[in-house]
Amino acid sequence: MRETNIRITVEEYSNIDELKPDDKALMMKAREASNSAYAPYSRFLVGAAVLLENGLIITGNNQENAAYPSGLCAERVALFAASATHPGVAVKAIAVTAKSEDFVINAPVTPCGSCRQVMSEYEMLSKAPMRILMMGETGEVHVVQGVSSVLPFMFDSSLLKRKTGQ
Ligand code: THU
Repeated sequence: MRETNIRITVEEYSNIDELKPDDKALMMKAREASNSAYAPYSRFLVGAAVLLENGLIITGNNQENAAYPSGLCAERVALFAASATHPGVAVKAIAVTAKSEDFVINAPVTPCGSCRQVMSEYEMLSKAPMRILMMGETGEVHVVQGVSSVLPFMFDSSLLKRKTGQ
């Protein structure tokens, strides 16, 4: 038996104003997107902003449905929209933020497992670590560089391929 440790580096900013200008601009776009989320059931409004390598920013927000599982998270709405409208363009970063209609979220919001998996797909296509920025309505902003920081042991398409000769 061998035991190994995984190290994750998190950049912790005490508030949005401490971010570098480009990061702050991306987070502001995510915040703007959260304002038009369709979340009548959870009253939890999430916004996401995806920065593409060509400089374009594509936003998304959560879209809920009376049949609850039919809804989709903000991150996937943004990433799928980016891939649908700009296929093959690398994703450099994604910013995520949320606010509630019932209480103040003052801790960073982290993407759900399915969104992390979807991020991993586009990171692999992009061939470079994706920067992930996370915040609540107020308070600290946490930033990681690369999906493996939020999804260790991720499933990727290399596992679907058979090595020649096998
Ligand atoms: N949600 C997101 O949009 N992103 C996340 O990372 C977590 C959860 C949405 C799904 C649902 O509409 C609401 O937030 C409550 O779970």
